[in-house]
Amino acid sequence: MKKKLLPLVISCVLASSLTSGLSVAKPALSNTSNSSSVSKEIWQDDRQAMDTFINELMAKMTLKEKIGQLDLQAGKGQLTGSYRNKNYAKQIKAGHLGAIFNTTGAKQTRMLQEIAVEETRLGIPLLFGYDTIHGFKTIFPLSLGEAASWDLEAIEKSARVSARESAAAGLHWTFAPMVDISRDPRWGRISEGAGEDVYLGNQVALARVKGFQGDDLSKPDTVMATAKHFAVYGAAEGGRDYNSTDVSERSLRSLYLPPFKALVDAGVATIMTAFNDLNGVPATGNDYLLNDILRDEWGFEGFVVTDYTAVEEMVDHGFAKDSKHAAELALNAGADMDMVGQNYFKHLEASVKEGKVSIETIDKSVRRILAMKYRLGLFEDPYRYSNEANEKRETLSKENLAAARDVARKSMVLLKNDNQTLPLAADLTSIALIGPLADSKADMIGSWAGRGDRKKQPVTVLEGLQAKLGDKVKINYAKGASYNYKGNTNKGFGAAMVAAKKSDVIVAVMGESEKMTGEASSRTSLTLPGNQLALLRELKKLRKPIVLVLMNGRPLNLNWADEKADAILETWYAGTMGGHAIADVLVGDYNPSGKLPMSFPRNVGQIPVYHSMKNTGRPFSEDLTGGARNYSSRYENLENTPLYAFGHGLSYTQFDYSDIELSSDTMTETSTIEAKVKVTNSGNYDGEEVVQLYIQDLVGSVTRPVKELKGFEKLMIKKGETKEVSFTISADDLAFYRRDMSYGAEAGEFKLYIGTASDNTQSASFSLTGS
Ligand code: NOJ
Repeated sequence: MKKKLLPLVISCVLASSLTSGLSVAKPALSNTSNSSSVSKEIWQDDRQAMDTFINELMAKMTLKEKIGQLDLQAGKGQLTGSYRNKNYAKQIKAGHLGAIFNTTGAKQTRMLQEIAVEETRLGIPLLFGYDTIHGFKTIFPLSLGEAASWDLEAIEKSARVSARESAAAGLHWTFAPMVDISRDPRWGRISEGAGEDVYLGNQVALARVKGFQGDDLSKPDTVMATAKHFAVYGAAEGGRDYNSTDVSERSLRSLYLPPFKALVDAGVATIMTAFNDLNGVPATGNDYLLNDILRDEWGFEGFVVTDYTAVEEMVDHGFAKDSKHAAELALNAGADMDMVGQNYFKHLEASVKEGKVSIETIDKSVRRILAMKYRLGLFEDPYRYSNEANEKRETLSKENLAAARDVARKSMVLLKNDNQTLPLAADLTSIALIGPLADSKADMIGSWAGRGDRKKQPVTVLEGLQAKLGDKVKINYAKGASYNYKGNTNKGFGAAMVAAKKSDVIVAVMGESEKMTGEASSRTSLTLPGNQLALLRELKKLRKPIVLVLMNGRPLNLNWADEKADAILETWYAGTMGGHAIADVLVGDYNPSGKLPMSFPRNVGQIPVYHSMKNTGRPFSEDLTGGARNYSSRYENLENTPLYAFGHGLSYTQFDYSDIELSSDTMTETSTIEAKVKVTNSGNYDGEEVVQLYIQDLVGSVTRPVKELKGFEKLMIKKGETKEVSFTISADDLAFYRRDMSYGAEAGEFKLYIGTASDNTQSASFSLTGS
């Protein structure tokens, strides 16, 4: 791991057209935002040539052909909603279809492309899209798991491999990354994002888009990325998928929009609208989000696709009176392409005639879509992605599988490890491997796993351990329990107890079914589902060491395990090579280095619980001097803190932090401060550590979080070695939406924290002065 400071990109991430700050609670510094520093060079076109080409093409297009470009149809094989149109071949032949998704494979895409290019009047090539989320055929760990690696190189590599495999299967476009920040583990789609934090979320999003789009979109091994779901999908009330959202302008700008803005600045090709309504207006018909913010304020030049049937769902929202009205609302709001529902295709001709939609509006959307086809090089060679030889070479290649194993190991988080239970002792003679997930191929690759095989390819934990340990260690396997919500019996407990009794250690592989995570998979409880916990309680009676290996797509309630298990390893769903990667970690061939991208609550009642909370006017205290009742902001029956904090993650080795050394304890709007810390590996293993930087603004014109992540660095420190990590802090890192909604820092006192987790840090203080 190279020892390099990660760029503190907060200024370019949050930059927007804002006025200079007003002095409210304390002197405001002038606006510290600057324009994007990340280039859009990935769209390496000669704009003039492109415009001329598109003008000439559009001059020949009929209205129906133009509207056809705005239509996206689902091919066979994979459905994510309730609609399906099998007749798209006819529509392609008529020159009335712009894009297809869920049809994959070099041969199949080539066949359809031939119809579009050779059998239609204008020969406009199709776009082929797909949900390559955490892998196409070679499946990498679940997206939330990858975020837990805090390893941006690894995350970019995963996206790069996924792009190459997808592109080799004829695809031009992935519907990823999902960049919805969420603080609600009940929400099933928490598994698809990067967790609770804006800073980490931005970095992960950028790494993913870099991996997907590469440095040149016209290269046939890159795919267009999609920043989704725009916007605020992750704030669904009660964590119930598709539910309404209601957030203030300040939360919108500070929490939910930054990853989208970062990706627009980085040149993301497309944006997908969200299903939810935001403050009463469905995102898919939200002129404020799509036209005002995305295009006018941020200058987004790619195109916007709706989510699956989200246009006509505005009728169910009670926002449009019928699908024609919905089509008009969506297009006029700035949604260029209609996914699946064919509302544009069916109604927009009439809407134009009636003057409900202008031809200029249609032309703008068509132009945006044609521009991306041009940038992909499809007008030069429409078949450049559909290459069977390349597909064969790329799919599930040795290198891709090795990359998947590597990223999987990096994603795992060691939550607890009493008495160095892990790594498993080298002189073990037997392991009881127990649990419904210990040998489940179908679950191993998790939800939204592309075209990943669920029957043969995934390596289970049983297979991984067998491959690693051979005959040296006897593995006594028993499924024992079930993760199903209903219909469980405890019949399997007997076999599990027998296996455990004859073994030195119990490794219980438990968690959620992969079907409990992802879209439409919200839960009201975070406990281990089914009778898994009941089995763990039985196993505990044997007084043998218990290692709990978790597979799940969200923070779980782990109170029992935290008290009674000896070690807990969070592995998310580790992907095609998961079993090998888990075995690597269990035996100590890889020293775990992941950190939680989300706080793990003690129970559902604590939600939302996250590290960047506000202090309140009655900060939490145990002080009872005010009388028998404690009037601080707290629960009567439970502490405020999560069970495992954001940023938490143990290692087999021990990292000791020195005090923080600041280059100065004051800074100005234009100067910077260096914050240095020395980290010593004082344990017995080489290991990687994620050094985390948090900052607190003590007094603001609006109340400020108790701690905000502002930087991190992941680095390898060999045993016995000390490394110095240094962060550079500038006024940009202290910027926020001030009382008047201008963006910038305010002079005053700050606290800085550096450490191994959000709840385990050293601190120092500094001030920012106005000049
Ligand atoms: C619905 C999901 O919300 C979205 O994320 C996905 O890309 C589309 N279906 C297409 O599969």
